[in-house]
Amino acid sequence: MSVEDQQIQRPPAEARFAAELEALRRDDNAARPPGWALSLEAARRFICGDEAHGISAKFVGDPALVDRCLVTLATSRGLMLIGEPGTAKSLLSELIAAAISGDSTLTIQGGAATTEDQIKYSWNYAMLVADGPTPRALVPAPMLTGMGRGRIVRFEEITRCPLEVQDCLLSLLSERSLAIPELNGPDSMTFARQGFNVIATANTRDRGVNEMSAALKRRFNFETVFPIADFDTEYRLVVDEAARLLRESGVPAAPPRDVMEVLVTTFRELRTGRTESGDAMDRMSTVMSTAEAVSVAHAMGVRAWFLRGGEPEPADIVATMGGAAVKDDAEDLTRLRRYLEQQVPRKRGRVWLALGEARDLLPG
Ligand SMILES: Nc1ncnc2c1ncn2[C@@H]1O[C@H](COP(=O)(O)OP(=O)(O)OP(=O)(O)O)[C@@H](O)[C@H]1O
Ligand SMILES: [Mg+2]
Repeated sequence: MSVEDQQIQRPPAEARFAAELEALRRDDNAARPPGWALSLEAARRFICGDEAHGISAKFVGDPALVDRCLVTLATSRGLMLIGEPGTAKSLLSELIAAAISGDSTLTIQGGAATTEDQIKYSWNYAMLVADGPTPRALVPAPMLTGMGRGRIVRFEEITRCPLEVQDCLLSLLSERSLAIPELNGPDSMTFARQGFNVIATANTRDRGVNEMSAALKRRFNFETVFPIADFDTEYRLVVDEAARLLRESGVPAAPPRDVMEVLVTTFRELRTGRTESGDAMDRMSTVMSTAEAVSVAHAMGVRAWFLRGGEPEPADIVATMGGAAVKDDAEDLTRLRRYLEQQVPRKRGRVWLALGEARDLLPG
């Protein structure tokens, strides 16, 4: 059954791009690290794209960053991706895992309630009670599976886990083995196969990366993922991603070009606190990331199509930003209102005019 037939909302990268991975594997003659499905060069092309060979660009950013990430993963250090929310850290880690291991689903979601069980292994309690600890009763978690199969394991938002839980990674990453003391004989120890490594992500806004112990930091190489600096690149990404998401939502009409230009400009100005013409203005405290711009563009298209059967209009930007971008800071709503009242009227063009006139659609 193909991915489309199954109607899965978001298949993992290795399923979405199965044909590209297959083509890259077929033509890949370069040396590759043991346990890897692709060479570093082919993995980079999978992630950053290669137009001449029909490989789409998936992560927009510095290919040198991607190279450094791949090199780290071919050593005995883990990779830690840090950066502002919505800068595609999770996307990049998914793409890297799909390229190296052909599997991006060995993922641990870090949070306040994450336990060692969810990282290493747990037990099927019915079997445990009936037969005692046996390999059959063992329920492997991503780390055990990744070590046993030689795969990349992803650890999302690692700094949101309690410190003592993070610390259970220390011995895994240095000894490259996982002990299961309840079992006897060879089953009591899993040694990591070639190809195993860990990609962790952490968000610099939520809770600092400072929360990680120095001992654990030493076992990772840190790479920072920055927001997209250039307008044209961000604009193209938002347009393409929004078009893809709208198609998946059953919306045939993509937002008009001029509306998208204004949307991306608005996000960039509110993110940086500087207008296109260089004037200082208020920055929003909510993260106005590229990911948020994509989700506003998606919501605008859905709104216009399913409510009116048409294309998004400038007023939809205001209506959608209220909930999608301005989260829980009342002050941000004031900042956005001030932007619409003071900055927008200075700009020229039909879309900007309509955007300013729609300011009453802001909630509150
Ligand atoms: N440089 C980029 N390349 C490709 N897509 C990007 C980029 N920046 C943002 N995006 C968009 O943002 C989405 C990725 O967001 P993702 O969840 O990976 O970010 P994140 O950094 O993990 O955020 P968080 O810190 O909130 O977890 C992508 O699906 C894409 O639409
Ligand atoms: Mg993330």
